[in-house]
Amino acid sequence: STPLSTVKRASGPSSYNGDENVDMDWDNLGFSPVPTDFMYIMKCCRDENFIQGKLTRYANIEMSPFAGILNYGQGIFEGLKANRKEDGSLLLFRPDQHAIRMKIGAERLCMPSPSIDQFIDAAKQTAFANDRWVPPPRKGSLYIRPLLFGSGPVLGVGPAPEFMFLTYASPVGNYFKQGKAPLNLYVEEELVRAFPGGVGGVKTISNYGAVMKELLRAKSQGFSDVLYLDSVNKKYLEEVSASNIFVLKGDVISTPPTSGTILPGITRKSIIEIAHDLGYQVEERRISVNELMEADEVFCTGTAVGVASVGSVTYKGKRIEFKVGENSVCQALGSTLVGIQTGLIEDKKGWIFNI
Ligand code: COI
Repeated sequence: STPLSTVKRASGPSSYNGDENVDMDWDNLGFSPVPTDFMYIMKCCRDENFIQGKLTRYANIEMSPFAGILNYGQGIFEGLKANRKEDGSLLLFRPDQHAIRMKIGAERLCMPSPSIDQFIDAAKQTAFANDRWVPPPRKGSLYIRPLLFGSGPVLGVGPAPEFMFLTYASPVGNYFKQGKAPLNLYVEEELVRAFPGGVGGVKTISNYGAVMKELLRAKSQGFSDVLYLDSVNKKYLEEVSASNIFVLKGDVISTPPTSGTILPGITRKSIIEIAHDLGYQVEERRISVNELMEADEVFCTGTAVGVASVGSVTYKGKRIEFKVGENSVCQALGSTLVGIQTGLIEDKKGWIFNI
């Protein structure tokens, strides 16, 4: 692999020369961890700011068994994608928005956070250094995972004395094993993902451990994923395990509001804007599960998931099917988004950061 000394800071055109010198089956990328060459690491103490990070070889990290993240879940993460443009260069999608979201989450979990510039720089450096792991155009993306956590030891409940910010990456394709086939969602009636006043609106690691039980149960019954309802009324849509939800009826697209229990997705926000641009009326409001059952189309959005059409939803034993495929609104929104992300459609919004 590339010697560390030859990895340059992210700037200018990518060094990609079309030489696929990694042993990857680019046509069958899924969503599993693939160790790449380099990661970015930055540390700081409680009540201080992150000053300077560095690229290092991708490797396991060492931590105290008392580490804040291991014992009390003091950790948040992000996920963003770098795509390869037809000319070989690398494009990052809205890293500034991910940086802002991490800052808000860090504040909720009493952690210092990297500045917006430090975050963007880490993402750029990680993508650039792992250039040979970025899939060829249209084959997938390099998924970049920034992770911020309490790395120092604690015993009483409280913020850790030391924090670590890591950024590492893996080539990815389809999030779901079924590929691009429409999702079959199961509406969960008992367990909840989040509750008012909790941490559902920030990207804490604990939000994802909390959904695994139902996810496995739903998958064992042939469903693709779980759709959660609000914890108070068990009536209004919240989100899916790792994605936001949208509902289309006529020319109106609706999605639940990000009022604390729902993750403010960057893909969610981008799709709202694209839908407006394409002439749809978009409403951020509470949507009851009964209203969902009357929808024309349903789809999920997320960085990892992309824009995924929902073929069916099952609620209280009743399965309802929705329009999917070629002429769906979901398809139009998804292909516009991917077009911008991969440089096929001109970015007029400042969403693309060239590496
Ligand atoms: C993403 O969409 O990037 C996420 O962070 C979801 C993740 C749990 C796979």
